Amino acid sequence: MGWSGRKILLGITGSIAAYKTTWIIRQLKNNGAEVQVVCSPDALGFVTPLTLSTLSERPVFSEFVRSDQGEWVNHVALGMWADLMLIAPCSAQTLAKMAGGLCDNLLMAVYLSARCPVWFAPAMDLDMWKHPATTRNVLELVSRPNHKMLGPASGALASGLSGVGRMAEPQDIVGALDQWWSNNKDLVTAESSATMRDQLILITAGPTREAIDDVRYISNHSSGKMGYALAQVCLDLDARVVLISGPVSLPPPHGLFAFIPVESAMEMQEAVKKYQEQFDIGIFCAAVADFRPVRKTEGKVKKKDGIFPIELVANPDILAEVGSKKRSDQFLVGFALETANGLAEAERKKSIKNCDMLVLNNMQDPGAGFGQDTNQVTLFSAKGITELSLAPKKEIARQIIQHLLQCYSPA
Ligand code: PMT
Repeated sequence: MGWSGRKILLGITGSIAAYKTTWIIRQLKNNGAEVQVVCSPDALGFVTPLTLSTLSERPVFSEFVRSDQGEWVNHVALGMWADLMLIAPCSAQTLAKMAGGLCDNLLMAVYLSARCPVWFAPAMDLDMWKHPATTRNVLELVSRPNHKMLGPASGALASGLSGVGRMAEPQDIVGALDQWWSNNKDLVTAESSATMRDQLILITAGPTREAIDDVRYISNHSSGKMGYALAQVCLDLDARVVLISGPVSLPPPHGLFAFIPVESAMEMQEAVKKYQEQFDIGIFCAAVADFRPVRKTEGKVKKKDGIFPIELVANPDILAEVGSKKRSDQFLVGFALETANGLAEAERKKSIKNCDMLVLNNMQDPGAGFGQDTNQVTLFSAKGITELSLAPKKEIARQIIQHLLQCYSPA
């Protein structure tokens, strides 16, 4: 595990499971992370500041003012410092405060100031967990961008009862963190979150369908996987993401600013126009059909022998149109799907569509392009030409955004 330099805010609340968090601190520290503990006042009835500060090698904060030094604890700075905030255990009380936005202790002030992903591991008795009020609070929290719940687990509870409510096992919490770090590599840092936070990112994804009649259409094999993976990475970085998607079978990611499902290129063009002025970064990953039937026949065209000609007309080039109106503070990423002369075509499209960055994928490369779970792409930007190796689309999406972050600075 390589967590060197990761900054973790560890929130501890009033629950008997607080004693298990000492093991979590030890593991995080052993793996090279920096850990800053912030306790709710009730947590200190279960575990002492001396234990926590010895393990974390930092002072433990629980009050707005450090009475020993007469110093104010800067909750805003703490919230901005962290790469991730983990609240474990998270009592029913703290869950409710988080859901309601209450700010009556330092931990809550830090939570409300945190710009990083927030993970929480509920711990309470089974009836408290099952209570409709807790259910409502949990649903509210998990629907927030970058919030993730770990557990609770089922088993023996401090009350002597048995059921769901135990804090997730510490090794499962550490395992989930480890997986997340290795998936996100260097992407989700306080710095990159600060760059992307609240930026409006417009993403097009999936294919378009161009109707021949009421039951038939012209389309292509785009699955939406590449565009949806990009949307998820931007959400992980706290951006406001507008996803305009052609028909695909993927569920839209949670936490989108807007999700606009469309069928045809003309519908996609209309949806894009609504955000033309507003977007900060536009990522055009959709495989827009270049042509549509000149007219759509009502009903179902009857089967006939022989040739059945369909007259086609060119669709508007949505990206080129956006590129022609792009302001200097807007950043535009285009894609190019090629089968031959990839490099030359990518350079040409980047230039004529006025893109700041272009992502080339070539259908000739095994594992690249439509439908696959993987992709192999080459990036064209002010940084030059960068080839990425074949990887899952989720990883490719991360690397594309990582590259974008090197080229983009918000206005
Ligand atoms: O959806 P998946 O199955 O995961 O597959 C991903 C993908 C192969 C669809 C994706 O990686 C990709 O390459 N998307 C762009 C496909 C494409 O239409 O390429 P193009 O070279 O024809 O278009 C160039 C650019 O202009 C693209 O950004 C495209 O969105 C845009 N365009 C094209 C035509 C048009 N009428 N309007 C557009 O905006």
